[in-house]
Amino acid sequence: MTTRSAAPQGRRIWVDGRLVPWADATVHVLSHSHQRGSLIFDYMSVHETPRGPAVFRLDDHVRRFLASAELVGLPLRRDAAAIRAAVLDAVRANPGATAVKLSGYLASVEVDVVPVDDHVTLAVAAYDPVQDVLRPKGVEARPFLPVRVWVEKERRNRRPDIMPPQAKVAANYASPMAAKWAARRRGYGEVLLVDDQGFVAEGPTTNVFLVDREGTLRTPPEEKVLLGVTRASILELARAEGRKVVEEKFRPEAFRDAAEAFITGTSAGVWAIASVDDHPLPEAPGPVSRALGERFARVVSGRDPAFEHWLAYVGEARD
Ligand SMILES: Cc1ncc(COP(=O)(O)O)c(C=O)c1O
Repeated sequence: MTTRSAAPQGRRIWVDGRLVPWADATVHVLSHSHQRGSLIFDYMSVHETPRGPAVFRLDDHVRRFLASAELVGLPLRRDAAAIRAAVLDAVRANPGATAVKLSGYLASVEVDVVPVDDHVTLAVAAYDPVQDVLRPKGVEARPFLPVRVWVEKERRNRRPDIMPPQAKVAANYASPMAAKWAARRRGYGEVLLVDDQGFVAEGPTTNVFLVDREGTLRTPPEEKVLLGVTRASILELARAEGRKVVEEKFRPEAFRDAAEAFITGTSAGVWAIASVDDHPLPEAPGPVSRALGERFARVVSGRDPAFEHWLAYVGEARD
C-alpha cells in the first residue's frame, strides 16, 4: 500500500475562495496544523434526493465548526454565511460528491505553539470517500454489519479538563486512534471511549446508544461527547415517534443488560453493535435500531416530509 494515491480526476478543493486541483491542496510538513494538531474540521454528508443533491443539516455543521474554532481559540475570521456559501460552491463544483470536509488550519510554518502568522486557511473538500480515497488504495466500501466493540477503560480519553470533547480538533483524535488501533489488532471492529470517571462516552468518530429492556433509549450526556449531528437527529426522531429517551451516564457493564445497542455518525448512520467486551447483545440490529436506522435513511435522502427542513438543496439553496 502506498502513502500517496492518485488524485481523483476532476476534483477541486475550495481553499480560501479559490477552487484548486485536488493534488495541489497541500500544506508544508512544518505547518503549525500538521506539527501541533491544531486543525479544526467538520464532516457532513451529501445525498441524492428527488430535488437533486442536498447537504444534511448544513447549518448545524457550520455552527459546530464555528464552536470548534471558539473552543480551540483559532481566529477563523469568517461567519456562518460565508462558510455556508463556500460549502455550497464546493459541492456544486464537484458533481457526485457524497461528503464534505470543512477544515480550518494554520498553514504557516511556525516554531512556537503560538503562531506568529495566525491566518486560518479555510478549505472545503466535496468528494466521494469511497470512489476518491478508498478505491485508489484498493479498499472497497464495506456494509456496516453489526460490529464487535471493545471499551477502552485504561486510558480515559474524554477529559473535558484538557480539550473539551465538543471541539473537533485534530489533536483530540490521537488518543482515540491509539485505542482503536489496539482494539483492531485484537479483532474488534470499533472501540468505545470512557470519560474521566470511567463512564461510557463515545467512539472515536461516533456517538453511542443502548436500548434497555423496557425499550428506553439511553445515550451519554452532552458534557462528555462531541455533539454529533446524527446523535441529535436520532434523539429528535425517537422523541417524535413517542419513544422514551434519556441522556445520562452509564458504565460499560450496562451493555450486559441491554436489549440492543448502536453507534451513530455521519458515515455510519445507525450502526448496530453485535457485542461489547465479548458479551453479545440479544439482537443486532434489534427492532428499535432497525426502525430508527431506516427512518434516518429516509430522512437524509429527502423521503420524509416531516424532516425535509434538515436538507439544504444544493441547486436551490440561498448562499
Ligand atoms: C468524537 C466524535 N464523536 C461523534 C461523532 C459523530 O458526529 P456526527 O453524527 O456529527 O457525524 C464524530 C464525528 O466525526 C466524532 O468525531
